[in-house]
Amino acid sequence: MTRKRYALFGQPVEHSLSPRIHAWFARQTGIALDYIAHETSPAEFARSLDDFARNGGAGANVTQPLKALALAQCATLGSAAQRAGVVNTLTRRDGAWHGDNTDGTGLLHDLTERLRQDLRGRRTLMLGAGGAAAGVLPALLDAGVESVTLVNRTPQRAERLVERHDDPARVHARYWPDLANLGAFDFIVDATSAGHGESALDLPFAISGSRTLAVSLSYGAAASRFLAWARAAECSEIHDGLGMLVEQAAGSFAIWHGLRPDTEDLHRELRTGKTEAGLLATD
Ligand code: ATR
Repeated sequence: MTRKRYALFGQPVEHSLSPRIHAWFARQTGIALDYIAHETSPAEFARSLDDFARNGGAGANVTQPLKALALAQCATLGSAAQRAGVVNTLTRRDGAWHGDNTDGTGLLHDLTERLRQDLRGRRTLMLGAGGAAAGVLPALLDAGVESVTLVNRTPQRAERLVERHDDPARVHARYWPDLANLGAFDFIVDATSAGHGESALDLPFAISGSRTLAVSLSYGAAASRFLAWARAAECSEIHDGLGMLVEQAAGSFAIWHGLRPDTEDLHRELRTGKTEAGLLATD
């Protein structure tokens, strides 16, 4: 049987678990596929994606820092990608790319269904205004958070995201140096890619309160500094982005293959570390 070809584009992708997660879904569903990670800079992206399509690429995931560039490569868009303005899932259809975004539904699935968190009415702080932040923002609003305050190192990017949503009662931007004066938030989302670099996030304890849910959209070593800050700030619930990674992957898999894999065992195995054998196995 011919194996369909899928790939992850981004920088860095060296430590991404996505290839192993898709291989795990493929084994569970009996679908033959290849999924590899392509380290790709913004300058290389358009050409790499063209090469991939020419070589029979059927679909791709896109991660930092390429999610906005991916949208520009699409002939058609699904509703979530259109609303977010960024794409994490590309599907080859009729000789062109179709773009979707499964980050928002992936995050909600993990937080509300798996972890049983109620997001309604939460005063929310989003750190970052790049592809990950843009991808999850519509879903957080749909989940009924009270408001989202966007704070980004480069303030213009947060302001652009605010303008895109045009909901001044619920979505607004503030400056990073003013964080200590914004009061305590019920929900803090670290959507920055700071954990992939050397520089620490400079966050005051004043933004956390007694019922603060702190979530990193990163996982592994990239999440560790924010999670350490959240523990030191005594946030009441703290989660990394591993669950979201699995759920956004399941969403992409469903778009490509027409069925959503069961993720429960994978979550358990990833958390207990028992999966190393299963996850690392190749077929
Ligand atoms: P992603 O798809 O992961 O969101 P991205 O689009 O490149 O990747 O966006 C990265 C985000 O992390 C941006 O909000 C970026 O801030 P800038 O817009 O100012 O670049 C943020 N970020 C990266 N490193 C950071 C750091 N050390 N401190 C604060 N924010 C950082």
